[in-house]
Amino acid sequence: MGTERENWSTRFGFLMAAAGSAVGLGNIWRFPYLAGANGGGAFLLIYLGFVFFIGATVMLAEFTVGRMTQKSAVGAYKSVSRNWTFAGIIGVLSAFLIMGFYPVVGGWATAYIFKSVTGLLSEPSAIPSTFGAFISDPVRPLAWMFLYMLFNIVIVIRGVGKGIETASKVLMPMLILLLFSVAGYGMTLPGAIEGFRFLFVPDFSAVTARTFLAALGQAFFSLSLGMGCMVTYGSYLAKDTKLASSAAIVTTMDTLFAITAGVAIFPALFAFGMEPTEGPGLVFVVVPQIFAQMGFIGPVLSMIFFIALMIVALTSSVSLLEVVVAYLIDEKNWTRRKAVITTSIVMLVFCTLASLSLGIWSDWTIPVLGVGFFDFFDILTDKVFLAIGGMLIAIFTGFRLKKEDLKREITNEGTVPFAIFELWYFLLKYVTPIAIGFVAFFGARAAAQPALMVFGFSFIAVLALFSKKL
Ligand code: PFF
Repeated sequence: MGTERENWSTRFGFLMAAAGSAVGLGNIWRFPYLAGANGGGAFLLIYLGFVFFIGATVMLAEFTVGRMTQKSAVGAYKSVSRNWTFAGIIGVLSAFLIMGFYPVVGGWATAYIFKSVTGLLSEPSAIPSTFGAFISDPVRPLAWMFLYMLFNIVIVIRGVGKGIETASKVLMPMLILLLFSVAGYGMTLPGAIEGFRFLFVPDFSAVTARTFLAALGQAFFSLSLGMGCMVTYGSYLAKDTKLASSAAIVTTMDTLFAITAGVAIFPALFAFGMEPTEGPGLVFVVVPQIFAQMGFIGPVLSMIFFIALMIVALTSSVSLLEVVVAYLIDEKNWTRRKAVITTSIVMLVFCTLASLSLGIWSDWTIPVLGVGFFDFFDILTDKVFLAIGGMLIAIFTGFRLKKEDLKREITNEGTVPFAIFELWYFLLKYVTPIAIGFVAFFGARAAAQPALMVFGFSFIAVLALFSKKL
């Protein structure tokens, strides 16, 4: 502390890093399987509503709070009021918990780069069982997860400017090209139109409160919101960077990636007569099967696809790691190296638990809560912590910070116009908290894991009570 805060070197670098954080497994692994399991078009529509009315609003709030306070997740809240420290702590905790399963899937993606060209595609009918056997193996997925985690450690130790920014600048544009080629191929297949219909024509008959909560959680997860990640990235922003257009660009890019991933998967999936409700294995089971039909070019395209998946995962998980690391550097005066290494070790332990919960421990669930570790980390963060985190940042920004100060920050002291400031402020102050309140309440009531929901909400309430002591 005390020294000049590190800054992104260019706006492009910042945009690539923020978009890199947003675009990730959430778009390519999670979005398609959630859309598949929740009826396709109707889910997409509800998701888009949340992304543009609530997600974009909260993202701008996070950037603004970060740059205004020049602090990361916890410090930003704490510097205004200690009653709010808990909201930052929930964010750091969410980052920890997401990093308790994200690298597991990142490891699968890394493994599939090699599997693609070492015979995985030669027997298409065996692809589903190969996946099942792989993720439930007690050793192999752990080794790949470890390798994946090492990449994260190296990038984050090098720091914001040198590590995250450089990696994102190179990797993001490369990924755009890769994904478009895969989607382009899918569209040319006979029968692909069914997949388009599934993804784009809404059927509301299956929509319930659960669908809304799933879409809301996915919106926050995908946009990296509700846990201080964009506050942290915003705190490294130069004073002349335009905040509102940055939020708009990142939100749009993230959404385009999700839809492109959908277009890369569903048309081909229907063309080959497969089921959209495959679940978390969707990308790993269906995509290689699609590539397996393509002859000699299949393995190469499959490899490219999984390189892309690993790359997007990496630019997201480094941002998750950075949330915790920035907290330890800013609030606890740790060195970056110590923060990265200590944090990573804890995350590795969590990931090991999560990975084993899909294999040798798959029959065991956490007492009372009724879920294994993987689901515990995933459901608790996405359906409870991120949604409530988003609600808290909206209330905090709308009610605790001064409207004039927000306006000055967003317009860079009045030098860049922001015509819809009043609309944004209204969405932030009233629409966002009320909408999240409704969706969280009714969604949690209808949730398949009620005990876990109660646990999550109570946990937040207890933290809030002790906020001043945190
Ligand atoms: N947005 C990332 C994804 O879609 O994969 C995941 C994520 C990153 C969530 C960073 C939250 C976060 F702070």
